[in-house]
Amino acid sequence: MNVNELNLRKILDSRTNYTVEAEINNEKASAPSGASTGTHEAKCFVPEHLNDIENLLTKLEGLDLTQKEFDQKLKELDGTDDFSRIGGAAIASSFAFKKASEFEHSNKFPLPLSNVIGGGEHGGNTSIQEFLVLPVNAESFPEAIETNRSIYQELKERYSRRIQGINDEGALITSMDDEQTLKALKKVAEKYDAAIGVDVAASEFYEDGKYKLTSLGIEHDAEGQLDFIEHLIEAFDLKFVEDPFDQEDFKMHAKLAKKFPDTLICGDDLFTTNKDRLSEGIENEACNSLIVKPNQIGTVSDAEETVELAKSNDYVPVISHRSGETCDATISDLALEWECPIIKAGIADIRIAKLNQLLRLWDEMENPELKSF
Ligand code: PGA
Ligand code: ZN
Repeated sequence: MNVNELNLRKILDSRTNYTVEAEINNEKASAPSGASTGTHEAKCFVPEHLNDIENLLTKLEGLDLTQKEFDQKLKELDGTDDFSRIGGAAIASSFAFKKASEFEHSNKFPLPLSNVIGGGEHGGNTSIQEFLVLPVNAESFPEAIETNRSIYQELKERYSRRIQGINDEGALITSMDDEQTLKALKKVAEKYDAAIGVDVAASEFYEDGKYKLTSLGIEHDAEGQLDFIEHLIEAFDLKFVEDPFDQEDFKMHAKLAKKFPDTLICGDDLFTTNKDRLSEGIENEACNSLIVKPNQIGTVSDAEETVELAKSNDYVPVISHRSGETCDATISDLALEWECPIIKAGIADIRIAKLNQLLRLWDEMENPELKSF
């Protein structure tokens, strides 16, 4: 595609922070941002002198490039190995280029994995960051949305006296601790025939060799954390467990994955959408699933290579939003193009942009179907 015009600007995100929007050939896209970021992520900040970065990237105007060539040029212009110079302008521009050159949608839709109760770095009283629902028995994308929506609304009503607000991802903040939350969630999810899971985001409370779950008054080492996670999987029949251990600990993830082959043991901070990190995980048999956040690696084509590597090794790719978001729905389109069987994109507030895009695409698609995993 020919890059006729490229512009950058600052826009607001869901935390009322600034983020970068890129516009290429009249298509706009923006950079999301994380609060519980992994150590190995590409940098995704708003450059202080955005005009200078825009001048740098306008060198690409007039060039006829493929997505991979465009992304490669972004890396060359940045000149660092983690986008330390152009920050969020990388993923915003890469997304905008992809949108301007159009998507190749398949008819395979992802299941929505929705954060309905939250804590940790996103705000809330639990040490576990996200309590999630996965509508595994839905037969269509709209039915899957209806399941997650109903669970969210019912939790809000049934536990109204224990709900204190909503957090960064639109998930409910409750006065319940982690185990009470799982008990409540299991009860409501069962009513709607949905599976449940968690994003532990354990690196956020790992310090000096100890996992410190302050909400439960628990402090233990890696073996203690393994026992605790095993207990949660068994007691609450968890089908999805993300980042149960520290982001450098491939070995403990492997122990857990070996014991629970029917639960998705998913690496987010562990892999940071990075192909080399995923290769290390595959060698160690660390997980059976990974989170795909394109801004963790900085470009669409790098994220796509990671997805391909995951698929060829039977890892389930879960494409995901960040806690800091805009109305950009690029990941919804990418979910169809890459045939990701699951999308993690919340169920409330600004997150509906991603879900509504998939509802529209479902409506427009001939013979749409849910992708199995
Ligand atoms: P983040 O959290 O976007 O704040 O990093 C989301 C997640 O950990 O999955
Ligand atoms: Zn996560």
